[in-house]
Parts: sequence; C-alpha cells; structure tokens
Amino acid sequence: YLKLQLDLNRTGRSLGPSVNPVKDPESELAVSARNGSFAVKHWKEAQERAQQAKDRIGAVPESVKKNTTNAPTDNEDEETYTFEEIQKQRQSLPAYQVKDELMRVIAENQIVIVIGETGSGKTTQLTQFLVEQGYTNNSEMGHRKLVACTQPRRVAAMSVAKRVAEEMGVKLGDEVGYTIRFEDKTSPKKTIVKYMTEGILLRELLEDPNLEKYSCVIMDEAHERSLNTDVLLGLFKQLVRRRRDLKLIITSATMNADRFTQFFGNAPQFFISGRTFPVETFYSKIGCMDYVETAVKQVVTIHLANSKSDGDILVFMTGQEDIEATCELIKERLDLLENPPPLDVYPIYSTLPADVQKRIFTRQNAERRKVVVATNIAETSLTVDGIKYVVDCGLVKLKLFNPKLGMDVLQIVPISLANAQQRSGRAGRTAAGMAYRLYTEKAAGTDEMYLQPIPEIQRANLSSVMLLLKSLKVSDVLKFPFLDPPPPDLLYCSLYELWAMGAIDNKGQLTSLGAKMNLFPMEPTLAKLIILSSQQEFACSYDVITIVSMLSVPGVFFRPKERADEADAAREKFLIAESDHLTLLNVYNQWEQRAKIVQSKQNKLNEWCKRNFLQHRSLLRARDVKNQLVAIMKKNGFPVIQARSDVDIRRCICASYFHQSARLVKMGGNNRGQAEYANLRQPYLKMFLHPTSALIGGRDLSPQFVVYDELVLTKKEYIQCATAVEPQWLLQYGQVFFGVSALARKALEDKLSIKILDKSDWDEKMEQTEARDKPSQES
Ligand code: CDP
Ligand code: MG
Repeated sequence: YLKLQLDLNRTGRSLGPSVNPVKDPESELAVSARNGSFAVKHWKEAQERAQQAKDRIGAVPESVKKNTTNAPTDNEDEETYTFEEIQKQRQSLPAYQVKDELMRVIAENQIVIVIGETGSGKTTQLTQFLVEQGYTNNSEMGHRKLVACTQPRRVAAMSVAKRVAEEMGVKLGDEVGYTIRFEDKTSPKKTIVKYMTEGILLRELLEDPNLEKYSCVIMDEAHERSLNTDVLLGLFKQLVRRRRDLKLIITSATMNADRFTQFFGNAPQFFISGRTFPVETFYSKIGCMDYVETAVKQVVTIHLANSKSDGDILVFMTGQEDIEATCELIKERLDLLENPPPLDVYPIYSTLPADVQKRIFTRQNAERRKVVVATNIAETSLTVDGIKYVVDCGLVKLKLFNPKLGMDVLQIVPISLANAQQRSGRAGRTAAGMAYRLYTEKAAGTDEMYLQPIPEIQRANLSSVMLLLKSLKVSDVLKFPFLDPPPPDLLYCSLYELWAMGAIDNKGQLTSLGAKMNLFPMEPTLAKLIILSSQQEFACSYDVITIVSMLSVPGVFFRPKERADEADAAREKFLIAESDHLTLLNVYNQWEQRAKIVQSKQNKLNEWCKRNFLQHRSLLRARDVKNQLVAIMKKNGFPVIQARSDVDIRRCICASYFHQSARLVKMGGNNRGQAEYANLRQPYLKMFLHPTSALIGGRDLSPQFVVYDELVLTKKEYIQCATAVEPQWLLQYGQVFFGVSALARKALEDKLSIKILDKSDWDEKMEQTEARDKPSQES
C-alpha cells in the first residue's frame, strides 16, 4: 500500500484497477496487485472497476492495440520518404557541411582519423563522398574499385547499407551492398560501396593480402576496440606501406582518437563538429538494488510527467534478458493506469531479428512517444532519432576469458567513464536533453569506473585470431604491432590451445590441419570438427555440418517465461540422451522432414515450430549456414558423408573437443542437475550441466565423461552443449593434451586394443587429404 502511495505521489495519477482483483477470504476487501504495487478496495467496487477497465480495453480500436502489443505489422516496415526528402536530410548532416574540407584532407593524406559525434553522418556519408570524388572509378585497368566500410556489428552493417542504398537511390545489393558471415548481399560486377563486418575484411585479407579491389577502407567505430578492430589496425599498419594508393580512414568517437593518431605516426585528425545540445545529468542518490525496476519507474515517471512533443526515451540495459524484462514491466505498469498516454516500447539488441529492428528506424507516429530499450549497441553504432531522455543503468555485460581456467565468464560490470559520457550524450542530439544515471555521483568517479573500456583483445579468447595471424604469415605473434598488446597469459593460453588441437606445430608454424581450419569461418574447434568429420575414421561430415550450423545460429529452443513448463515438455521430445549436439541434429532433421511434408509452405512450417516451441527463424538461418558450409566443403574437396551411427558422431566430437572435457565427481542423487563435474584440465574447477542439457533430462545416470562446447560462468559454472564420451576416446584422440607417456601409451593400446594417435599421425592424415586437393592457397 505504501508503494502505491509512492507511485501516486510520483505520477500524480491514480493507479487503475488490475483487471483481476483478488478477494481477501477474511474480509470484504479486494487486493489488486501487480508487480509490487497494491490497491486495496472494497470487493464490490473492485469488481465494478475491473469490469470498467475490461470494457475500456475492449473499446480501444484494433489499430492502436496492435501498436501497443509491439507486434510486427506489415505497413510499419516501409519508409515513405521521397528521394528529395532524403537528399534534404543528407544535406542537413554536419558531415555534409564539411565535405570539401574533409575530401581535401583525405586526398592529401593516406591515413585520416575522423572524429565526430554520433549521428553526424560518418557512417552513411563518408562512403558516398568517396564515390562522388571518384575513388571508385580510378584504375589503370579500367576496373572499378570499391570503398569498404567495416562495422563491429552485423546489425549495423545491414541497416546502414540499406540506408545508404536508399540515399543513393539504388537497390540494396547492387551498387551498395553488405557482407556479413554467411550472408553476402553484394554483386561482383556492380557493387562499389560495401559495408561489412570486420571479421569479413580479415578473411578477405587471407585471400588478398593487399586488398587490391579496394581504393579506400573506412574502419568505422574503431573506438569500440573490438578484437577484430585491433587485429585489423595492426595489419593495416603494415599494409599501408605496401599499398601507398590505399586510403585508410578511421572513424572514432572522441574516446581513443589520440591513440589511433599516435599509432599511425601522427596521422591527422579531422573533426566534424556536431550540433550537440546540453544534457543535464541526474544521479541516483543512493544507488539502486534492482536496476530493471528502477529504470522502469524512471521511464514511467518521465513518460507521465512530460508531453509527447517533448521527445523519446532511450534506456541502456546490459542484455537481452533484462531488456525484455524492462519492456514487459513498462507495458505492465502502464496497463495499471487509467488512460495512460500511449507509449511504443521497442527492445533492441544484436541478436534481435533484423525485421524487428528495422521498425525502430521507420518513421514513427508523431502522436505516440517511443521508448527504446537497448544494449550498448545504441551507444554509438545505431542512431535512434528524437531521443531526449536517457536512462542509463551504468552497467554492461562483457564476456571475459579466463586463461587459467579456459573459461568465458559473462559478467555484468560497471561501464567506463567514456561510455557513461557517450550514453548521456545520446539525449542531446536534437535538443537539450536529460540523462538519468541509476548510479551515484560517487560511483561515477575514477575509483569505481575505468576511464576507458578495456579493449577486447585484452580479455577475449584469442585462438581464432592467432590462427588467422599465423595464416597471414605473421610468424612471431609476440612481435605483432598491437595497439595494446594482449596480456602474455592470454596469448600463451591461446597458442597452447592451437597447439593442443594440432593447428600449429612445436615451432609455432601452421600445420596443414591449421591451414585447412581457416577455410571455415568459425572458431577453431568447430572448424576442426568439420574437417575431422570428413575423414574416413569418422565419416559423418553431413551430420556434423548440421550440428555446426545449429551451433552458429541463435538458440533454437523458445522458452517464454509464462509457458516454461509447456516449452520444456516440448523440448523433451527432441532430446537425445547422450548429447546436446545430437539433440540439435535431431531438431534440425525433424524440422527438415516436416518441411518436406508441408512442401516448404512457410506458414505451416512456422506453425509446427510454434507448436514445438522452436524458433523458426533460427532454423531457416541454420539451413542457410549449412548450405554454405556444404559449398565450402565441395569447393575444397572434402567429402560430405552421412554418418553410419551416432557413436561415430560422438567420437568425432570427442576428437575435436577433448581439450574441453570433464569427469563426473559427485552424483546429483535425485536431482541430476546437481551432479558435479571436474574439468580434466583444471581438476579443481567444478562445473555443472546446464539445466536445459539433454544429459540431465534423458538418462538414468549422469555420464562419467563429457566434452562441451562452452563453459560459461553465470550463476554457476555451466557446461553449455555437452556430449557424453568414453574415456578411451579422450586418450585416443587427446594424447598430446593429456600427456600420455610412451610407456602408458603402449600399455593402454594393448589393453584397450585401440591405436592412440599422436600429432604426427594427424599430420600424416592431413597430408594424405592434402595430396588430393587442389593447390593450397599458400601459393
Ligand atoms: O556514423 P554517424 O553516427 O556519424 O552517423 P550516421 O550513422 O551516418 O547517421 C546519420 C543520419 O542518418 C542519422 O541522423 C540517422 O538518422 C540517419 N540514419 C538512418 O536514418 N537510418 C540508418 N540506418 C542510419 C542512419
Ligand atoms: Mg556511425
């Protein structure tokens, strides 16, 4: 009741009744309770008001209701700006005002650091300016050259390419296109402006170390210092010497800009002065216990206290989970009110399907305010127009790799001061704004926050990057020109992992297995898994490709909170007791089977997915990935073979994952989820099967030995995606890793009658496959 009073005071409005009041059995009172807010009324009155509320909701026109539920609607998708309108918008951007000056600086310098506020037009305009200046049609051979623009995120690459195609009045995929992993929307003949993820440019460097087809490369959002940004920076440092005609443009927010200048021998900085307006910052007085709850209250308060013409709200959260919780709570809170002013609630995070994200950029109904709840993706790379209020929880979810444990830790940590500033700044793009920080002014001091965020290269697993650098003939990675060198622990751990899996030899040189692994655009373990599966020993590549595809897409199991039991029951039906990997395979195969039965009728297939609590979209994407992997296999002469048995697939998984293995040390009794495992590399590291694992649900006993795809610390140390294996397989395929001595090896081989393979055996096998292949790309 106190809480209700509090809300009343804050909002100045009365809370409406819950539509489902509960009668107190002991009195004539009714309690309407939702999310911690209570209303106590006389039972009769409560019933009457509930009925009124129901009638009122029923009276809301369909069109309005649709919008409040945030469901995708067709007509929202398409923008209706005319070409002239778009040109006018372009010309009003700060970048446009300084175009000539900027082009002059670029013409005179090989490397330029461009600094500008978010929304000043760096990402969308620079590429177009370069095209206008003729950078795409200069070539002695008469070939057109391309302007590349790299993005740390796939979402940004797609949405920006779409926007630029519109601005240039061309079809997306023709003159302007984008390439992200497993999706290429460019045309080899037509494309002159190509947006892409940094990972894609890195892979292109493998095939064309001089990037001959490009005349300009824009490294966008470099201040974010993603892992790939840092690797690209190091590579470009050497590349710009080899290709004097290549223009390199690095765009950055103010943070980090000086570092880039120093790194590239005092490259000039060009400032695009944005029109920014003052932002008033408010701190929390006492800090907050529950940042979702606090943020929701703040949003509702802002919404009710200000009229729509004022501006929209942007909330920074840490990830999908709390974003969804926030969105839901905001809607629920508003439902409690009588006739609340309309509010559109949009979540945005990087794994959100593209078409849902698209709606955020479409022209909004001017009558309705919107609130966008986002991850740090909205800090710089996405611009949402019309924001006047920012609510910042002050936290960010980071993946930190612990080299000692070989484990990723997903941790929610305080943002840096630079990020805090960037977030607040989003409120002052179109007019003066306000930023509500849900942390105290003291917490925003240097004691608790870093000045700058820690670059990813100092906190991520580097084995993919190391493998790539080895393939690019960087023989001594310790001497690679890193802007900030990774800590030695991290480097050695990653090199050790590559060595243990046979990708590099004792001298640190790439083995033939290592070279082949780079053909597949995925983590080393998965790349090796595919390669092994095509060998005679395992002969299960068709199935393994499906598994890898399923691992490369966002989760296929759909588990809405309010129907969790139903969803779990649906998932049960797909479980294969020995393996989460095989469970994924099973899901895909059943989906494919179904697709054949309904003859690919999408809505029928979608219905089937809904019934089974599967994400149709993820499965469609898995099919795309699978087709591309099959194409890579065929192109490089790897056989695509259907497995003889599940055991072969599990053996193959073991052969690639042996360095990520664990042994059962404590039975879980009735609750198998409690069964405790010990890592085979670090025995003191205890871990648990994830509650959703097939290994918990489907068998009588917890398996003695498992290998796993990922180890993530959230609430507990959870093994993600595990497969039960036989201990002798671990010895057989992980001999180097487990350090089996020659004597023990002989004894084991005799006793188990298996052949324990060592590194030279693997290499031999590789050489044999090599001989069948076309000349390798090293030449
Ligand atoms: O890169 P920077 O932050 O400097 O700005 P930008 O992304 O080039 O955005 C310039 C303008 O284009 C913004 O005001 C956005 O409103 C608009 N834009 C858009 O309408 N749709 C996109 N997908 C991207 C940008
Ligand atoms: Mg940008």
